[in-house]
Amino acid sequence: MGAETRASFGGRLVAILAAAGSAIGLGSIWRFPYVAGENGGAAFLLVYLLAIFVVGIPVMVAEFAVGRATKKNAVGGYRQLAKGWRWLGYSGIIAALFISGYYYIIAGWSLEYFVNSFGSLYNEGVDFRTQFGIFQTSWRPLLYMVIFVVLTHIIIVRGVQDGIEKASKVMMPMLFVILIFMAIWVAFMPGAGAGYEFFLKPDFAKAFSADTIFSAVGQAFFSLSVGMGCMVTYASYFDKKTNLVGTSFSVSLLTLVVAILAGLVIFPAVFSAGIAPSEGTSLVFVSLPEVFKGMPLPSLFSAIFFLLLALASLTSTISFHEVLTAYISEEFGMSRKWATTITSTLSVVLCVVAMYTAFDVSIPGYNGTMLSDLFDFITASVILPLGGLFTCLFVGWRMKPDFLRGELTNQGTIKSRLYHVLLFLMRYVSPLLIGYIFVSNFV
Ligand code: PHE
Repeated sequence: MGAETRASFGGRLVAILAAAGSAIGLGSIWRFPYVAGENGGAAFLLVYLLAIFVVGIPVMVAEFAVGRATKKNAVGGYRQLAKGWRWLGYSGIIAALFISGYYYIIAGWSLEYFVNSFGSLYNEGVDFRTQFGIFQTSWRPLLYMVIFVVLTHIIIVRGVQDGIEKASKVMMPMLFVILIFMAIWVAFMPGAGAGYEFFLKPDFAKAFSADTIFSAVGQAFFSLSVGMGCMVTYASYFDKKTNLVGTSFSVSLLTLVVAILAGLVIFPAVFSAGIAPSEGTSLVFVSLPEVFKGMPLPSLFSAIFFLLLALASLTSTISFHEVLTAYISEEFGMSRKWATTITSTLSVVLCVVAMYTAFDVSIPGYNGTMLSDLFDFITASVILPLGGLFTCLFVGWRMKPDFLRGELTNQGTIKSRLYHVLLFLMRYVSPLLIGYIFVSNFV
């Protein structure tokens, strides 16, 4: 697609919805609680909040600026602005591949839990951890992963406007409603208080430990979908009236609210049911059924929740699928259909390999055992923060200040009071902070 014929998102609200659809997903509802659970709960939440504002938002704004100014995919965007920086786009493509190599697996789990809500999940005497183990060793994770890739594929083939817009519009408000309802419900579970204490009362010594900061910054990048050109790609479909700063604040706040709501649901439930908060990747899948079990219609509520989780994941999978699809179709002049097929096929292959390969390596800050865990670590903790660092350096230093000013003010048609603050964060604070975290974790 050339610049003239490129599709676009219609209007301001849709731009927010689409970007928020990308951001809100497993990152906030599955990853945030389990990583917070492993890193001291409230201490993690505190640093995560700071990370969103100090590094997350500046990186998102920078990516929006690159994408909307160039109207290109991640690689094409950086190349158009400065040839020597196109590698930054490639690092995003690589990140998108790694994410594709495990995200569909977890998204498949939520689909399975949706289906199984009507199956044996809520039978008398079922232990949810045992149930999760049985599921994991069956053929079903493979099946649901493939189904998820196919669903994503179908939406992407139908194109930007139809697919992404419609999907984002419907499910987000529903997700909010059910999370709020659940958060109120768990407050009445016996022993819930310990969960609030764990999630909301920070131990400051732990908060500012190198480990916590490292994981919280990685989580901020992952949950906002920044540091890999995803927001470059999405912003390439924004129109010239979209307010980039406003959009990035809205998207970040929505993401934050969902993550906090997820924490407010999960931790009280975890403590009430006597589950360890450091349970790991299965946390959501063993703790939430404990919540539904006590509700009047467990199967129904459970099904609604896991369906919404699957849909929230779908608006995220389409976003990194689109990063790869836009790159392949634009850079290799391939039809959208072919580009989509290649991306989907690659995703399935990567997921299958990641699912069945155990991988024991010792890296500081990493403690997984499967290749899929390693994919997660490499993207969230390494590529995205580094990509974010260089995105800030690129927009803050490599481009002239007029570039950012022009994009933030929509070429002088709106005011941007935050321009100086954002430029300062991009130039100094984010790069130094991310650089420091890397040095302290790896050196
Ligand atoms: N932000 C998404 C989520 O939280 C994951 C994602 C990361 C999507 C990077 C696109 C790019 O689920």
